Amino acid sequence: QQRPKAVIVIFGATGDLAKRKLFPSIYRLVQNGKIGEDFAVVGTGRRQWTNDVFRENVKKSLGSNISSHADLDTFTSHFFYHPLDVSEPSSYLGLEALLHELEGYYKTGGNRIFYLAMAPDFFGIIANNLKASGLKDAAGWTRLVIEKPFGNDLPSAKALNKEIRAVFDEEQIYRIDHYLGKEMVQNIEVIRFANGIFEHLWNNRFISNVQITSSESLGVEDRSRYYDNSGAVRDMVQNHMLQMVALLAMEPPINLTTEEIRSEKVKVLRALRQMEVNGVDDYFVRGQYGDGETGIGYRKEAPQLSASKTETFVAGKIMIDNYRWAGVPFYIRTGKRMAKKSIKIVVEFKDIPMNLYYKNKQEKHPNLLVINIQPNEGITLYLNAKKAGAGTDVKPIKLAYNNNGINGINTPEAYEKLIYDCMIGDMTNFTHWNEVAQSWSFVDPILKLWESDQPDFPNYAAGSMGPLEADKLLEKDGFHWWPIV
Ligand code: BG6
Repeated sequence: QQRPKAVIVIFGATGDLAKRKLFPSIYRLVQNGKIGEDFAVVGTGRRQWTNDVFRENVKKSLGSNISSHADLDTFTSHFFYHPLDVSEPSSYLGLEALLHELEGYYKTGGNRIFYLAMAPDFFGIIANNLKASGLKDAAGWTRLVIEKPFGNDLPSAKALNKEIRAVFDEEQIYRIDHYLGKEMVQNIEVIRFANGIFEHLWNNRFISNVQITSSESLGVEDRSRYYDNSGAVRDMVQNHMLQMVALLAMEPPINLTTEEIRSEKVKVLRALRQMEVNGVDDYFVRGQYGDGETGIGYRKEAPQLSASKTETFVAGKIMIDNYRWAGVPFYIRTGKRMAKKSIKIVVEFKDIPMNLYYKNKQEKHPNLLVINIQPNEGITLYLNAKKAGAGTDVKPIKLAYNNNGINGINTPEAYEKLIYDCMIGDMTNFTHWNEVAQSWSFVDPILKLWESDQPDFPNYAAGSMGPLEADKLLEKDGFHWWPIV
């Protein structure tokens, strides 16, 4: 495949995301030969930086993951800085002139990516200015990459989408959900649809429940201003968690095109059982961390958080009311300052009708398929086998596959893959508006209820696996969370 060419314009280039994810990813794409010499990156921001200051920052962002200094100067010579006030039309004219010049020099064919790595309040105004200044009418293709949060609830997401769609077509809009760039999240489809032994059992006759955990050991760090307005439902559930549910539950697509895969995902999201506001308590529980083994409580992290009722943990039971999944709960849980950083999916299979080897009724070792997404990447299958020696005692054993171990290399980071996908025009692992809208409509009742009442916070200790309520949620259905270690 020909290497893609483009100028990437990053709005918010002095920010955290650019530093932590975008620059290092672009560096690796160049190192790995995925992109050649035909590219330039233009950073914009309110600060009055020069190209040199910008390039120094890019260098710093790479930390120690660099091959040699000579490489580095050549690499950063592709980076340019353009100070820009997003609401000032004249700033965009200067940007157009710069892009034009770079396109001549780097022969990028007029292909432009506008990457909005900043607060969504500005998305609409930027889109309008890109249109008014002619920036989006270059000779090549134009793509818009948008970071979450995409709105605050369904109505605000609709309004935002309307503003953006007034300027860009759906086919030009790449809504990032970085979980879709994770190697093992992408692997869900392959594990399901390329294996006879799983797909035939992948339904309510053989699966008793599915558990999806994304726990973080970190707290909110220096993002409390954003996080406190958001909370775990908006930050993780509306996007990452529901995307994983969709991939686990979707029907096999008729082929692997973007359209077919997305449309199967949308169907799952449409089948999620909608909750009434007054029914949310049966399905979702929340938490906020207090002092614990690994740190101080959320309310003590910053003065403005002292009475915060923002949830830093959420667990929920999601029902998918369709033929395949009727009756099978999909449990999700995610939170900050939990015991461990782990993203893991456990698919629990139903027990056989009569197990001759169990010694008592309480004993239960159901077959589990565990998909390890992070930090380890792989799959583990739990089976029952005979204990060595005399007798017929049974014990659980595991068959494990470790992705890194086999390939011998670190798998590419999510952002690296997604930036590349955007450059080659593959939208499969970006979210379509219909997915975003369905997800908001599912979580909106939760937000409504929780905004309207007073929670009993804090209710879990920093360094634990969340509040007791999260355990009870499964216990009342006769299940329990499988340990994530
Ligand atoms: C982001 C959230 O989308 O995902 C963060 O805004 C969260 O709050 C992060 O920490 C988790 O991502 P990962 O890849 O570390 O699981």
